[in-house]
Amino acid sequence: MTERPTLLITRRLPPAVEARARRDYAVRQRAEDDPLSADALVAMAEGAQGILCAPGDPLGADTIARLPGSVRILATFSVGTDHIAIPAARARGILVANTPEVLSVATAEIAMLLILMAARRASEGERLLREGRWTGWAPTQLMGVTLAGKRLGILGMGRIGRELARMARGFGMEIHYRNRARLPPDQEAGAAFHATDEAFLSATDVLSMHIPGGEATRKWLNAERIALLPKGAIVVNTGRGSTVDDAALVAALQSGHIRAAGLDVYDGEPNLFPGYLSAPNVTLLPHLGSATIETRDAMGFRALDNLDAVLQHGAPPPFELR
Ligand code: DGY
Repeated sequence: MTERPTLLITRRLPPAVEARARRDYAVRQRAEDDPLSADALVAMAEGAQGILCAPGDPLGADTIARLPGSVRILATFSVGTDHIAIPAARARGILVANTPEVLSVATAEIAMLLILMAARRASEGERLLREGRWTGWAPTQLMGVTLAGKRLGILGMGRIGRELARMARGFGMEIHYRNRARLPPDQEAGAAFHATDEAFLSATDVLSMHIPGGEATRKWLNAERIALLPKGAIVVNTGRGSTVDDAALVAALQSGHIRAAGLDVYDGEPNLFPGYLSAPNVTLLPHLGSATIETRDAMGFRALDNLDAVLQHGAPPPFELR
């Protein structure tokens, strides 16, 4: 029997994914959910041909430079890759692959959930009950805004953005978008494309952000762009926390220029910008975008498909990043 390739798995994974990995690989795995240190990662990678990693794992250029020569592929359990220095991996001949497509619906669901919660003040309402402060129904209590007829501005009209557009049409929202390039009519499905930030933001009542992290998008939503949104706009982010200038958003939430926000991702997570914790008009979720049983299984299987191609079949990974 030929020896199975050695695979380092940096986190606990859904049971079905772990079972398949253990069937096909000599698995070395941490049982924890949190990211490991760079030193631990390098030590555990000794002799491994593949690493199945996840967002938050320290795979910057310094760590990649220290990985043992045995490592041929980094397969991340995510679509986002801002935790991996891809050029550094490429320079060492290490392939990098991710898990696109399978999490689009789940992430769009979380964006829609945050839009609804922010518009209808759901977190404030729940806190009222849990803290025993509810005195009964009142005509002016916790009035939010109706989504029907509002303009949803989708920043980044990839697969997740398009799923969200499909869902939001069901709520009677008008869809606007900003994207690197205008989409073909079948993907646009009647949504209005904007070629500038100014045109896009001034036509947006509810902004939903779906752009990748990294230096190019760092603090994209800054005070200047926030000022272009109409007064009373809502901001939702399910992409990456680094794309928002937290101090600017908190200031706009305090002034009322932004009515409410819904966040699933944070710059430097799991740490949160302190101003969010004391702002009543922010709904906060702990990076739940892809967290459904179906989606997490599909992400794990896709990561294993990437590893299998390289380590079992000598082929390129189906979802290789370049
Ligand atoms: C990703 O895949 O990049 C998400 O943020 C985790 O679901």
